Amino acid sequence: MDRKALEEGARRILLTNLRQGVADWNGQEYSFVCPSLTGYPFQWFWDSCFHAIALIHLDPDQAKAELRTLMSAALPNGFMPHIIFWEMEKQPDFLSRNIVGQAGDPHYSSTMQPPIIAYAVERVYRATGDEGFRDAALPALVNFYRWLREIRDPDDDGLIAVIQPEEAGTDCSPKYDEALGLTELSNKGFITALKEIYRAYEPLRGDDRKILAADLFHFEDVLVNSIYAMGLRSLARLLGDSPEAEEFDREADRTRDALVAKCWDEEAGAFFDLSGVAEEPVKTVTISSLMPLVLPDLPRPIVERLVADWVSSPDHFWTPYPLPSVPVSDPKFMPGNPGGFIWRGPSWINTNWFLSHGLRGHGYTDLADTIVGKSYECIEKSGFREYYHPYTAEGLGARDFGWSTLVLDL
Ligand code: GLC
Repeated sequence: MDRKALEEGARRILLTNLRQGVADWNGQEYSFVCPSLTGYPFQWFWDSCFHAIALIHLDPDQAKAELRTLMSAALPNGFMPHIIFWEMEKQPDFLSRNIVGQAGDPHYSSTMQPPIIAYAVERVYRATGDEGFRDAALPALVNFYRWLREIRDPDDDGLIAVIQPEEAGTDCSPKYDEALGLTELSNKGFITALKEIYRAYEPLRGDDRKILAADLFHFEDVLVNSIYAMGLRSLARLLGDSPEAEEFDREADRTRDALVAKCWDEEAGAFFDLSGVAEEPVKTVTISSLMPLVLPDLPRPIVERLVADWVSSPDHFWTPYPLPSVPVSDPKFMPGNPGGFIWRGPSWINTNWFLSHGLRGHGYTDLADTIVGKSYECIEKSGFREYYHPYTAEGLGARDFGWSTLVLDL
């Protein structure tokens, strides 16, 4: 597949999955790409950010529309939802099978997703030079990152917390098994455990501080915080020379330092999430343990350890089609079709996008090139799928999946 064929394939998906119209519940215009017409027919937060980044290469105006639509769903307090149900007629069935928290309003989830949006806005702004787009985005971004700090970091240590695994975007990762009390290792078991948590959250709905204090599921997640720090840095750059820029730069430093001070495990040579108000390290290595590599200012000895011990080791992440979501050394590693029990083995294009850029930035050009080449091969062999078998490149999960078009940005 040459670049042109790849672009055509990506364009076809982004156009087919494009949803446009006026929402009958709030009269707002929407224009966004849904992750998959069959599996995920709504607007998802971090998917939209990835779609916008891919669209920079095909249709920058649509990239702006995608992000504007996403930001138009922000609440006055700054919060931005993880799923927005612009097209309500499709919604009831989806919600009955799903477990997103509703804060009394059925049009959006009351959960968040990894806060990559300031980075996506920065990329679209840099690609288009459109200052009007940037200036219109800034108030929503400032409010959102302040909301994260004020509401989601109750112990004020620079690390934000999620209240259920889907907020981290890595839904059924084995790192959550213990906190969820998973007894049955399957998607069904996962959904049952989540429903339990939601039942307990019911009386606390709408008050995230109380939900976090209840300590039912409270994760200071390494992937989420790496992306948070990346977003804060972008926001500071977008704000230019101003006191607000300093505020977000300081916060990015604080988050990076907290990741190193509290989540880095020198013995394991990996980063671990902290579970509960008591901040117990969850000593399960997953793709998330590598994510601080996206930070250009991660201390060099840590970068070297992560790369030598984990990323490039065939015993762990270096499979024929890297990088698997769980290292092959983990007894729970599940490379094949997981029946909805996702993030337990297959390789994903979005994490390859984060980590190949991160590795390149740290000077690991060959590793980055290989990850890019292999991601490209996955798509060539199996099309734009949700995730891929890390040994065979077999395409798995949803078909015509939006964020796999991120390959255009590799
Ligand atoms: C799955 C993924 C999540 C993604 C969503 C829509 O739930 O785990 O990260 O945002 O699908 O693609």
